[in-house]
Amino acid sequence: MLETLKSLQQEVQAIRPSSAEELESFRLKYLSRKGIIPSLFDELKQLPSEQKKEVGKPLNELKQYAEGKLKEWTAQLAERAGQGEAPADLTLPPVPNTLGSLHPLTLTRYKIIEIFERLGFSVADGPEIEDDWHNFSALNFPENHPAREMQDTFFIEKSPDVLLRTHTSNVQIRLMEKQRPPLRAIMPGRVYRNEAISARAHCFFHQVEGLYVDRNVGFADLKQTLYHFSREMFGKDTKIRLRPSFFPFTEPSAEIDVSCFICHGKGCNICKHSGWVEIAGSGMVHPNVLRHVNIDPEEFTGFAFGMGIERVTMLRYGINDLRLFSENDVRFLRQFKAVF
Ligand code: PHE
Repeated sequence: MLETLKSLQQEVQAIRPSSAEELESFRLKYLSRKGIIPSLFDELKQLPSEQKKEVGKPLNELKQYAEGKLKEWTAQLAERAGQGEAPADLTLPPVPNTLGSLHPLTLTRYKIIEIFERLGFSVADGPEIEDDWHNFSALNFPENHPAREMQDTFFIEKSPDVLLRTHTSNVQIRLMEKQRPPLRAIMPGRVYRNEAISARAHCFFHQVEGLYVDRNVGFADLKQTLYHFSREMFGKDTKIRLRPSFFPFTEPSAEIDVSCFICHGKGCNICKHSGWVEIAGSGMVHPNVLRHVNIDPEEFTGFAFGMGIERVTMLRYGINDLRLFSENDVRFLRQFKAVF
């Protein structure tokens, strides 16, 4: 028995468990209820009492040693697991730094602001949840205008009406209620229309409103400002074209087209083979609008425009589907990292 104990002691000392599994089989083999050490204790009970003393001490020592070892290795393995399995390999390439990037609509908005700031325009904004007065009535919309219908506009409440603004022109009114001319501001923001979603339309999109009110502001100022903007935005060769149009809050009114710089007028999908792409609505501020904000139309005149930020961005980067802007697909968004 003493011999057995001695060789067991040596056996246990030599064991170096290197994983949780090996440690567990060590425990099972030597210390579990049916393991070697407990069964030696059972044998001990059968021995005559002189031998019990002789064998008991080294057996107890063996048990304590095995238990101590189990504890020590359990702690060591836990510590190693916490530090990761292998030491760091310094020759591996680093984990790439995945910084986010600005959304293409943000990049375009910044660029638009930069161009108009150089012309002395300030930046203003207003609420997306709006009342009837600022979105429609003050802007000279008649009672029966189709934009006031549920199928065109998202209403939150009816009479008095609370709605999601359908354009950024509401900010024109809010600005003129607060400030006296001369006024020169652009107003970027999100707008909402009750439209079926497709590659060319969405229930929300972004506009930049522009407003310039002072003495002697004329149509030539409107034209020259937008011409300057287009050349700064799309390149020095860009031409613009004004097409007669109608808005309740401007008179006369015009749509602004820029020459298609993708095909340079030869005709492509972006310009629908016309050589021109529409980017904004515009016109001279209607005298009724000025009266609604207590500005005398005999003394002051102004021009206004509303430009689609998605439209400008699609042209700028050759994007052909409006839905890409709001799908949050990183494969799309990552492409705009360095462009400003
Ligand atoms: N608010 C018009 C629209 O959303 C655009 C516009 C703004 C037209 C200012 C003229 C003047 O279509």
